[in-house]
Amino acid sequence: MIFLNHGSFGATPRRVLRAQQDWRLALERQPIHFMIDILPAALRTAASELAAFLGATGQDVAFVDNATTGVNSVLRSLRLQPGDEVLTTSHVYPAVGKTISYVCRRTGAVPVHVAVPFPCAGPQEVVDRVVRAMTPRTRLLVIDHITSATALVLPVHELTREARQRGILVLVDGAHAPGMLPLDLPTFATDWYTGNCHKWLCGCKGSAFLWGNPESEAAQSDIHPPVISHFLDENWPAEFDFIGTRDYSPWLSVPEALRFLQDLGGERVMEHNRILARKGALVLQSTLGIAPAAPESMLGSIITLPWPGTETPSDEMAQDLRRALWENHRIELMVLCFDGRLWFRISAHAYNEIDDYERLAEVLQTHLPSRPGVG
Ligand SMILES: Cc1ncc(COP(=O)(O)O)c(C=O)c1O
Repeated sequence: MIFLNHGSFGATPRRVLRAQQDWRLALERQPIHFMIDILPAALRTAASELAAFLGATGQDVAFVDNATTGVNSVLRSLRLQPGDEVLTTSHVYPAVGKTISYVCRRTGAVPVHVAVPFPCAGPQEVVDRVVRAMTPRTRLLVIDHITSATALVLPVHELTREARQRGILVLVDGAHAPGMLPLDLPTFATDWYTGNCHKWLCGCKGSAFLWGNPESEAAQSDIHPPVISHFLDENWPAEFDFIGTRDYSPWLSVPEALRFLQDLGGERVMEHNRILARKGALVLQSTLGIAPAAPESMLGSIITLPWPGTETPSDEMAQDLRRALWENHRIELMVLCFDGRLWFRISAHAYNEIDDYERLAEVLQTHLPSRPGVG
């Protein structure tokens, strides 16, 4: 098969799954001893290893199940007031957009989605538009580090600087960033940063983190996980470390995922992936005669390109095309609808080769004109 959608749910190597299974067995061998005597310290050790990879300190890193939970923890803990504005862009991940709507509807705060065109001219266009939408009422900026559908690496440093100058809190949704881009979280100077370990770090499903900037007054006080349990108010990150009886093995096996990535080449593999994605995009652009949707400086190891066919855009059509590519050609590709147009998103990880993109280009070129619906 040709797997070109690492971005949606990652892929976990056997070695990391074995480490996860070892943790599960350790729990089942003696659950009381494990939960009470082993787990608390083991979680903090895992958090410290993850923090070192992120340029942070273990104490500032709380494990969560996924980026959605990280975002929920912050949004649902903040005491928003009627009239406060929560600012984000039109590229926000739908689940995050819904969480913003939910907290706004309960508090009387106002969601503001600033339109950022796609194709995107460059990072400055994003900064200009978002800054123009900041007002004295803006309480929080929720910004993607790498957008989901449109796969844009957004200028998080600049946006954070602008927001903080105006006293606006900043939550970065970095769902795709860990393992795709080298990270040094304190340099962002955001209040919070949440990221997944189960995408580009190749961790187990259900492994992610929320970083609370120790330099920010708001970041670690009165921020609670969406599940309240024994350690309520016992300070960050203790409250996040135990949220009831559950399987903690995805979090505990993060260090093995980090070692796996390191053994593959660490930052070199991240760079390899970004370069391969660009080369793949070039193959597709030249074969299919399609234009890039963003400048190189905004590209990571997922890249979104315009769908070359003439289908009427709809979410249903996008899923039909995805399914047809898988069923007829064993190519897994994300096809999506954004802003009334159809697009596709490619990805590159260590298991991909340039032939994968050549094959995709050939399939799209050969089958599209003859029959809408791919092959
Ligand atoms: C930008 C962004 N935010 C949040 C998420 C949600 O991630 P999860 O399902 O792991 O919570 C995704 C998933 O792809 C994403 O791309």
